[in-house]
Amino acid sequence: MIETEFLRRNSVSMEDLVENPILRDFPYSFETERLIIRGPLPEDAAPLHAAVVESQEELKPWMPWAMEVPTEAWYRVRVREGQLKFLAREDLWLMLVHKATGAIIGGSGLHRIDWNVPKFEIGYWVRTSYAGQGYVTEAVKGITDFAFDTLGARRVEIRCDVKNERSAAVARRAGYPLEATFHCDARDHFGHLRDTYIFAKVRREE
Ligand SMILES: CC(C)(COP(=O)(O)OP(=O)(O)OC[C@H]1O[C@@H](n2cnc3c(N)ncnc32)[C@H](O)[C@@H]1OP(=O)(O)O)[C@@H](O)C(=O)NCCC(=O)NCCS
Repeated sequence: MIETEFLRRNSVSMEDLVENPILRDFPYSFETERLIIRGPLPEDAAPLHAAVVESQEELKPWMPWAMEVPTEAWYRVRVREGQLKFLAREDLWLMLVHKATGAIIGGSGLHRIDWNVPKFEIGYWVRTSYAGQGYVTEAVKGITDFAFDTLGARRVEIRCDVKNERSAAVARRAGYPLEATFHCDARDHFGHLRDTYIFAKVRREE
């Protein structure tokens, strides 16, 4: 059992791990076939900013943060904050780094963390020049394995606007069953009511 391994490795109780997730010991980086997937680093600010600028038109319909792309200086702060949150186990923002070129080709992460379950929500976006080549599907599969096998997840969700067909296609390609559709679940950043797909994978206790 993952939990037992955690406890043995850290010499702590389950209650300690739930109350103090910072005690959880897991790597900052892992790999898939074509990608290094890792937490943010200070040197990511400039390439990350460039990737978002390049992709802004594709991101805008779905990502509120892309409506106006912040400056590189803002990213210099944001990646450091991301590093802190990762190490505090509050939010696991992940960079998708192309092994062959070293380029940042998108972003992902394990968000809305509830360590008590544990459960996570995966988010993702791809740099426009790397779209349509299966990188995001590869990343989502790798992050899902990381969540279940390394973090001891019991549930990993992907939520997306039902109109976001490319996002739903990633969830389906990565083998996520559609668990529910929440109708009039939220308003998008244009103020329109939206329906939301909830895809989820679970691992039950034996
Ligand atoms: C959602 C988003 C990340 C999907 O990106 P994507 O490039 O379509 O996804 P993938 O990297 O998995 O690539 C899949 C495509 O590559 C193709 N492909 C090529 N090689 C592949 C491989 N080895 N494995 C899987 N797919 C492969 C697939 O057939 C698919 O092609 P299609 O677009 O013609 O159907 C992207 O559209 C995006 O960034 N959108 C804006 C942000 C967003 O909406 N995020 C989600 C919010 S919920």
